[in-house]
Amino acid sequence: MQVPADIVQRVRALREEIDQHSYRYYVLDQPSIPDSEYDQLFRDLLELEARYPDLVVPESPSQRVGATAASEFAQVTHRAPMLSLNNAFEDDDVLAFDRRVREALGVAEIEYAAEPKFDGLAISLTYEDGRFAGGATRGDGYTGEDVTANLRSIRAIPLRLADASPPRLLEVRGEVIMLKRDFEALNAQQRARNEKTFANPRNAAAGSLRQLDPRVTAQRALTFFAYGIGGAEEASVVLDLHSQLLDYLAAQRFRVAPERRVVHGVAELLRYYQDIGAQRERLPYEIDGVVYKVNHLRDQERLGFVARAPRFAIAHKYPAQEAVTDLLGIEVQVGRTGALTPVARLKPVFVGGVTVTNATLHNEDEIRRKDIRIGDQVIVRRAGDVIPEVVAVVANRRPPNAREFVMPERCPVCGSVVQRLAGEAVARCTAGLYCAAQRKQALLHFASRRAMDIEGVGEKLADQLVDHGVVRDPSDLYRLDVKRLAGLERMAERSAANVMAAIEASKHTTFPRFVYALGIRNVGEATAKDLARHFGTLDALMAAGITDLLGVPDVGPVVATSIAGFFSEPHNRAVVQALREQGVHWEEREVPQAPRSMASGRTFVLTGVLPNLSREEAAARIEAAGGKVSGSVSRRTDYVVVGKDSGSKREKARELDIPILDEGALIALLTERQRNDAQTEKNP
Ligand code: IVH
Repeated sequence: MQVPADIVQRVRALREEIDQHSYRYYVLDQPSIPDSEYDQLFRDLLELEARYPDLVVPESPSQRVGATAASEFAQVTHRAPMLSLNNAFEDDDVLAFDRRVREALGVAEIEYAAEPKFDGLAISLTYEDGRFAGGATRGDGYTGEDVTANLRSIRAIPLRLADASPPRLLEVRGEVIMLKRDFEALNAQQRARNEKTFANPRNAAAGSLRQLDPRVTAQRALTFFAYGIGGAEEASVVLDLHSQLLDYLAAQRFRVAPERRVVHGVAELLRYYQDIGAQRERLPYEIDGVVYKVNHLRDQERLGFVARAPRFAIAHKYPAQEAVTDLLGIEVQVGRTGALTPVARLKPVFVGGVTVTNATLHNEDEIRRKDIRIGDQVIVRRAGDVIPEVVAVVANRRPPNAREFVMPERCPVCGSVVQRLAGEAVARCTAGLYCAAQRKQALLHFASRRAMDIEGVGEKLADQLVDHGVVRDPSDLYRLDVKRLAGLERMAERSAANVMAAIEASKHTTFPRFVYALGIRNVGEATAKDLARHFGTLDALMAAGITDLLGVPDVGPVVATSIAGFFSEPHNRAVVQALREQGVHWEEREVPQAPRSMASGRTFVLTGVLPNLSREEAAARIEAAGGKVSGSVSRRTDYVVVGKDSGSKREKARELDIPILDEGALIALLTERQRNDAQTEKNP
């Protein structure tokens, strides 16, 4: 079929536009159009290609994801071997390297190209006449695996070079990596699916690229950074400097480290190492060192290679972020919300620049998934300020007496029952207010504005009160006096008097506030109101069994279980009793029935900045109309209200097909039904 010339032209223009936007998005990280417009361009292209299949070419952006899985990867021999680098660990190693280079070249000071050393997977990409022709892993340096189909799905790898007159052959070398944020997201997803997590971004990148099914690779957020070429034919890539080569690759729409720099002499090399080291944690990708390369390509050639490494370059390594050590035991720590976290006690090991003796094991399921036993040799990882974690067991080194871990049934701090709700990964101490580890948090929550509203009880005071043993549970607040308070550090008599007045004033409260203030897990303000409305009196609420609780609108088994669990703890009952004895009171049955409206019984999530209403005003209006406000979007959310700068919640809503309202639509929804209600009242 003869394709009309204007269609050919249109398809070409669409591809160029899509490539341009992909480049801005995946390489520069600076998208210039909304996703929806990009999607539209893509749909237009797909439509034209479907109508005119003759126009489809392998380098079309539509052809990134192949549809068939391979049974194995073919072996490919590299045109030029992919060598490795010698390592420098100490400054002295760098001084020696620089000395060798200077002596070999007979020059007083060397110009170097310095760049980060990416911690990923070495890859070679072949471009023929500017088109991506194939790519391979490094393998043993001489032969690697043909992972072309998978590489095509990586959007940061151009399928076409930007050069109008590209070299006949260009081999680009670089590293396939997974950015830290994408690694975190992938592991979170793996955890949610109860699948094994990856130990680090490098393993995640390698595991993702070595998938036989390119559709799986396409699901994984991989990217590619170019750091050199393996060879080029024809004159267009005749350059003098490595730094020019990197600029050339950037111009061909490759991602090249923005941190690359040209430096002179060894002192500047060491300063570069320091600078990048200081940024290491904030970089979006993992690096394990920096690489110094003699910048003049002619000098590189003169220096040549020894064995399997170049003489003209060296990798200067940072302290390793992973180390192997013995897992001596597993202890359980109680966090501020009662969450029980298993913590590994380790034989001290130097990792990430410090000696590590403890590392988190996250939760029980993680321990099972990773099959970690006490006595095992484990890989510990400490990346920057992140809490050290045990990422894996060293396979085949399990001693015969290795023991399995069991989560205790009683809280190690207070001895109360530990509960793990269905569908939750975390086990929790049910003691709430009574458990020492949870006291501070509970106190702060109790005093917070929407609970008992005691001004002046902030973090500093709560810390002091709990640390000095003055307050063990919230009822102790009502036993304080000015003298005791003024005796605390940095507490003037006057502010002590103010806090006392606030505490006194808080005694007169409302039933919903009181229920909310107790800090029962899964009982937010809205549920507290529902409970107060339903039960009317505290005694009725405390006497309620799970079935009674399930009778409250919007209370499901999870919430019912945690309420019943809370009130069945004698400590919690005692605290409630003490609070009443100290004079905390409210009018029971005071909650008016909320007017029926469109919002009644519906759950809303607010996100972003609304043009007129503050977040609190919007929430108050929703609640006044009988609705509930929740913090996160789930299948149970009825509406998501979005304002400016709304982020992932909007995406989530879209994914789950939940109606999205702006401020105007929200107000309309709230008022419309009120009008209807008024009408119904008039004409019943
Ligand atoms: S240059 C002759 N530059 O490090 C070798 N390599 O030991 C030239 N790597 O697996 C390599 N970042 O993939 C070079 N900016 C960088 C690098 C880098 C990471 C990897 C490379 C190879 C290993 C070399």
